[in-house]
Amino acid sequence: MSLPHDRARTAWPTEGLSFGGDYNPEQWSREVVLEDLALMREAGVNLVTLGVFSWVVHEPRDGEFDFSWIDGMLDLLHENGIRVDLATPTAAVPMWLHLAHPEILPQDAFGHPLAPGGRLGWCPSSPVFRGYALRVVEALAEHVAGHPAIALWHVGNEFGGGNARCHCPVSNDHFRAWLRDRYTSIDAVNSAWGMAFWGNTYSSFDEITTPSGATAHNPGQLLDYERFSSDALLEQYRAEREILKRWTPDVPVTTNFMVGLGPDVVDYARWAPEMDIVANDHYTYGPDPLRRQELAFSGDRMRGMSDGGPWMLMEHAAGAASWHPINQPKGPGELARHAFAHVARGSNSVMFFQWRASRSGTEQFHSAMVPHAGRDSRMFEDIVRLGADLTHLDEVMDTVVADVQVAFLHDNEAGWALKSGLKPTNQPSYADTARAFHNAFFDRAVTVDVVPAWVPLDGYKLVVVPGLFLASEETARHVAAFAEAGGTVVVTWFSGIVDEHNTVITGGYPGAFRELLGVRGEEFSPLTPEQSVDLDNGWRGVRWTELLRSVDADVVAAHSGGALAGRPAVTRRATTGGGAAWYLSVDLDRPSLDDFAARIIAQAGIVPVATVSPGVEAVRRASAESSYLFLINHADTEGWADASGTDLLTGAAHEGRVALRAGAVAVIRER
Ligand code: GAL
Repeated sequence: MSLPHDRARTAWPTEGLSFGGDYNPEQWSREVVLEDLALMREAGVNLVTLGVFSWVVHEPRDGEFDFSWIDGMLDLLHENGIRVDLATPTAAVPMWLHLAHPEILPQDAFGHPLAPGGRLGWCPSSPVFRGYALRVVEALAEHVAGHPAIALWHVGNEFGGGNARCHCPVSNDHFRAWLRDRYTSIDAVNSAWGMAFWGNTYSSFDEITTPSGATAHNPGQLLDYERFSSDALLEQYRAEREILKRWTPDVPVTTNFMVGLGPDVVDYARWAPEMDIVANDHYTYGPDPLRRQELAFSGDRMRGMSDGGPWMLMEHAAGAASWHPINQPKGPGELARHAFAHVARGSNSVMFFQWRASRSGTEQFHSAMVPHAGRDSRMFEDIVRLGADLTHLDEVMDTVVADVQVAFLHDNEAGWALKSGLKPTNQPSYADTARAFHNAFFDRAVTVDVVPAWVPLDGYKLVVVPGLFLASEETARHVAAFAEAGGTVVVTWFSGIVDEHNTVITGGYPGAFRELLGVRGEEFSPLTPEQSVDLDNGWRGVRWTELLRSVDADVVAAHSGGALAGRPAVTRRATTGGGAAWYLSVDLDRPSLDDFAARIIAQAGIVPVATVSPGVEAVRRASAESSYLFLINHADTEGWADASGTDLLTGAAHEGRVALRAGAVAVIRER
């Protein structure tokens, strides 16, 4: 079942950009709640996510509902002009339910159930959990329907964040039913997975189990188990959404994704069409010196999943998280840089986890908009400043990210396939190559759409296929058609190796793209971290090489020594429509990749968003009427960008050049 929907017509929950965060007032006294409302008004908060973990508040005992708390909170927020993103509380199983039904706990690969407590303590396939969950959702939706504060529904929380893979008997039955549905006959399963290997052939569906224990399972089976697990969680989302749509047809429905580099626990790109607004939780990793670029990658992926339209940053951190080994705060001004970077890449919101830092509980040391120190703190000052700055950006609401000439193909299934089964190198790193390429473009102020592998490609000048290990025939055709129509394609090593069943495409690597690229790979030869190879044009390869032959491609760079001396490493085949198909059979080191990126950008006629000094991120959002250039100086030295217009944040007019203090942000309304 999927709802007919048109995201373009979905009303955004707030009039301007949404600003706020997860609000958990059940943890606080009335006095603190009243202070919260005053501080929210001071900061300009206009949206809060409420009730994410409030099941036991709504239903303190089996079947006994009490909505007085939520009624009070909805009224109070409404009186204060704050809109509500109301959660269904299904991420937080009440203890009474655990006691009554211990069988709903998910089981790990060794059959151990999770302990009660924590969150997401439910098996995605459990009909018992589903029954209780839908009952509370129905009661809540019926009760609050029509309340004017409710602007958005937030189904559960981070689906799969802890319960994504279950091996209990119910999940096993569900897996078998899912397979029957997909393959119809057991022969089709055996053939898709190649079960003849090691004599693992099944005689009936009853023999199939979830891939559990320490056994080395079949790669096809492992991949289908990932797909099944994502679908099992999606059933829960759909069941809840159906109830919400019945009671409140006009309120948009979403759930918060956890989109980073991928692969993710569920297949977000295939879930996205089920969302009225696509929403993301994004947390940077403090010690990552390039965290700004990882943030940009995730924003570019979110936009790819929302058809280029606005998406919602549902959560990020005001400062440090508490779940990394060492949790470092953000540097001076970084809170604002991260917030504006999300908006630059298409978010129409800046939301945090959470409003007020908790005193107790697992996340008692996680940062928040109001820290333990309270109002009188650098953090809250930064939040107030950010809230004020965002009000100057309301005119950006109706724009989308513009001037995107490059697409990177991304597919969660390719990432899952890569980690399912043994590989020439068993250090799965699906998005490493994508990230390295993205970084090279990021540094050159070239915006990239990171899109699901199946979206239309017309309109782009360059399509990069970065480590897309799994490629269906359809994807291969789609990419080839783009190149034959005059586009430039770059395929990187270990792409297009297996089909949708995780089965090798034989006849020469990379099977799915062999003809397009005009090459034939015969053997892989991965490198150890200490090894590298030199190419005859001065480039250097790390991590990966292969024994490659050109069929009808030009050799751009060949190995200059070693076992592969003289063999092609980088090739280019001119396509009939004036396009080009490049193959990189080695993983280029950073200087070589920089050189390659500069060359491909020039050859494909790609124009950067702006000319900027090193360390300045530039992204443009525009509509038919107006155009805004977001400039974020991540460097700790003064920077600049060539642009003209008025800075929405300061009102300053700039002619020709915008000077940017170290760490500064500007949003230029361009003439
Ligand atoms: C998110 C989650 C929040 C909170 C936050 C802390 O993943 O949705 O509830 O746990 O992380 O970073």
